Amino acid sequence: MSDRVLIFDTTLRDGEQSPGATMSHDEKLEIASLLDEMGVDIIEAGFPIASEGDFAAVNEIAKAAKSATICGLARANYEDIDRCWDAIKCAKSPRIHTFIGTSPLHRQIPNLTMDEMAERIHDTVTRARNLCDNVQWSPMDATRTEWDYLCRVIEIAIKAGATTINIPDTVGYTAPRESANLIRGLIERVPGADEVVFATHCHNDLGMATANSLAAVEAGARQIECTINGLGERAGNTALEEVVMAMKTRHDILPFDTEIDTSKIMHISRRVAAVSGFAVQPNKAVVGRNAFAHESGIHQDGMLKNPQNFEIMRPEDVGLSATSLVMGKHSGRAALRSKLADLGFDLGDNQLKDVFVRFKELADRKKEVFDDDLVALTRDSGADPAEEHLKVKFLRVVCGTQAPQSADITLTIDGVDQQATAQGDGPVDATFNAVKELYPHKAKLQLYQVHAVTEGTDAQATVTVRMEEDGILATGESADTDTVVASAKAYVAALNRLRTRREKLGGKEVREVSYKDAG
Ligand code: KIV
Ligand code: ZN
Repeated sequence: MSDRVLIFDTTLRDGEQSPGATMSHDEKLEIASLLDEMGVDIIEAGFPIASEGDFAAVNEIAKAAKSATICGLARANYEDIDRCWDAIKCAKSPRIHTFIGTSPLHRQIPNLTMDEMAERIHDTVTRARNLCDNVQWSPMDATRTEWDYLCRVIEIAIKAGATTINIPDTVGYTAPRESANLIRGLIERVPGADEVVFATHCHNDLGMATANSLAAVEAGARQIECTINGLGERAGNTALEEVVMAMKTRHDILPFDTEIDTSKIMHISRRVAAVSGFAVQPNKAVVGRNAFAHESGIHQDGMLKNPQNFEIMRPEDVGLSATSLVMGKHSGRAALRSKLADLGFDLGDNQLKDVFVRFKELADRKKEVFDDDLVALTRDSGADPAEEHLKVKFLRVVCGTQAPQSADITLTIDGVDQQATAQGDGPVDATFNAVKELYPHKAKLQLYQVHAVTEGTDAQATVTVRMEEDGILATGESADTDTVVASAKAYVAALNRLRTRREKLGGKEVREVSYKDAG
């Protein structure tokens, strides 16, 4: 059996489907391209039948992919499968992933008997295989399905043409030894098992997703399904960075190989955190802010003597530069460009110019400028000037212990300065009300999130604002040492994007069905 393990990334499907993590069309395209560049074998780009927006995103990702296989999800019915194929058939390497819940509980959802379900599996996998040579089939909630029935339906799927059999631990219920036994047992018992790839798809409800996935690989699985930062519903999915770095770092006991360029991990982790609005916890394995920080005196001393005393992975292996202290206010543009390139950002001239101006402003206000500060600056510099109908020119808030607070704002709207004052419950609410007075809109605030980029009272705050109007989503981000200023800019950036997107789409982007609706 080969030692090569395929990495199947489902950030854009299972990850994105978790409540609150919805990404916009452009954000999905950006993440897909980063996944492709980093060497992911299969990208599950979405669930095409869910909505027009999902279909369009999967379809564009399929057109743009350079080397990854592009996979779409479909429930066990012809309409889903045909729609999925329409979305992905333009890819250089397309894959249909069809599934049905096989456990006693999940069988009740479509209300089929065991025999009826077996027939449905035969028919739908056959349909998928008639369209596409590369078909993945999943018995959802496999880890709570009776073994005999599981073997029976997997055999049917293989005979009908499935080329990958995925074993989902849908509710994060299994444990490493059980995960390994299940995969080993299926490979031993199911006729035809040696002709297909077995995959493992774990959820992290009990914090065992990484361990369960690796145990499955040791038992013979050769595809791991995972997401960046472990993004996903409830406690999330297996984290790509964890399984990949575990196999790389402990290759002595996990002698499996992937094609992942691990130096791209930090950058994509940051981008997924930014566009999903799901921040990475500081002590998260591999990508957390503290994963390579050594603060205690004893650790620092040991690190200076030999980094291997406390570091099992080198920061540069995951794309972190050796030191996180950047330049001072005298650093030039070339140094900034090279530092940003180290961090994985390849900015165009205009964007670099914008980041450079703001870097200088920041360096004047803040004692030390760190890598994370620079990353934050790049986030709100991406605005296309053509999209900038609104711009924050001036903001002053009056706040204190006595409500209401008030905000005095000047916005440049399509080149003309306009001023308003409004009150609100807190400085941010007052600011948003003032913006609304100048630019009335029906968009609803879906997410408002503030993160301190580094430590200290002079730290920058990164603010993420997500707005929704008629099913169209737009996210705005901004960083500033003043949280209210960052909030105003992020709010305005979201409104600008929403307007551009509405113009581009000219229709709705409403999610219509969920993959959990039935089989
Ligand atoms: O967790 C799960 O069972 C899934 C399936 C659709 C594969 O995501
Ligand atoms: Zn899942």
